[in-house]
Amino acid sequence: MQNFPISISKDIKFRFLRDDEKTYSTNEKELPLVIEPVQEKSFAHLLRLLGENGAEFNKLLDKYGAVLFRGFEVEDGNQFQKVLELLNIQLESVYHFGSAHRVRITDKVFTSSEAPPDTIIAPHNELNMVPWRPNILAFFCQVQPDVYGETPIINTEKLFNDLSPSLQHKIANYPQRFVRYVPEHLLGLVFEGLSREEISKLLTEQEFDFNWEEDGSLNFECSYITLFSHPRTSRLCFCLSIVDCLVSREWYKNISQRYSLGKKLYYNWLPASLYKEYQQRLTTAATVVDGSQKRTSTLNAYFVNRNNESTTMTEAEAKELGKAEWKNAAIFQWKQGDILLIDNLQVAHSRLNTAQKRKILTAFGNMCNIRDMKPTTLALTSAKELEASKIS
Ligand SMILES: [Fe+2]
Repeated sequence: MQNFPISISKDIKFRFLRDDEKTYSTNEKELPLVIEPVQEKSFAHLLRLLGENGAEFNKLLDKYGAVLFRGFEVEDGNQFQKVLELLNIQLESVYHFGSAHRVRITDKVFTSSEAPPDTIIAPHNELNMVPWRPNILAFFCQVQPDVYGETPIINTEKLFNDLSPSLQHKIANYPQRFVRYVPEHLLGLVFEGLSREEISKLLTEQEFDFNWEEDGSLNFECSYITLFSHPRTSRLCFCLSIVDCLVSREWYKNISQRYSLGKKLYYNWLPASLYKEYQQRLTTAATVVDGSQKRTSTLNAYFVNRNNESTTMTEAEAKELGKAEWKNAAIFQWKQGDILLIDNLQVAHSRLNTAQKRKILTAFGNMCNIRDMKPTTLALTSAKELEASKIS
């Protein structure tokens, strides 16, 4: 059990989430740190607290990986943005590389992804395939869902430490290659109205390999080792992407009581190879119109082996990762006015199925470059071992 921080003001208290605030009980008991008012809940009071203690709150975010302001009277996107600005977060006003349709609420606040309600958005770090990504990601609950719609979060250091040595070794030593395809008609959504020249410039700056197809669609990719040392805390960070359906299947299994009997059977009992084949067919059906023309953007991720070849995760590895993700996730109900701040380098997030009434806004900032991060001690040790094994 970590020590609680010394209270920085007599007007707020710190705690971890209670069991009655969680929808599933997992191993994670200390994420996020909850910050709530002792008595005075007004927005003006929150602003005063942030104005006086902004630096302290940022230190707490570094230490705990995620903090949840709960119980304050925050009402809309403008107030949400004001809170983030008082915390000195340099907010981004563009959302390039996104794949979801988002509505802009203020110049720096967006609606969160509107993926189909039954779908689980698998755990990921925001903009994980993009070298230049947010250090800080924030969510605001403007309309509390009656049921479901949780945004699970995972401390990726704990997750990584829970994996088998062989999977850890693979992740620490082999880069992952992220391959994205964007058809011409979705370029405006993904790159918010940038011209073809501006997109090429952006991809070049971020050191992507890319090519334009004759029909105006775009392929781009980059590779990096998804494990690094946190720039301020030196703790291990392990970046996650939404890629393998067998990883997310473990999540569907865990919440299968929320689905119809047919789906329950599908998630729990279909052999993995059939499940994978069927999921791939569904993706292809949604992606390809007439066998040639692709209509949705796609993201694939591979491990790059010693011969520079792309390999996918094995079935056993995908299951292991999915199970470990669930075990290490904090899964809790949203409350009206909640502001959740996440260190996007250390902590991954997800979204479970939703019911109708739910409005979560998002913003992000303090952009940083993955290529500036130092490798973890573990990766360095493994690399040396690998080098030694090649020489001998
Ligand atoms: Fe996300």
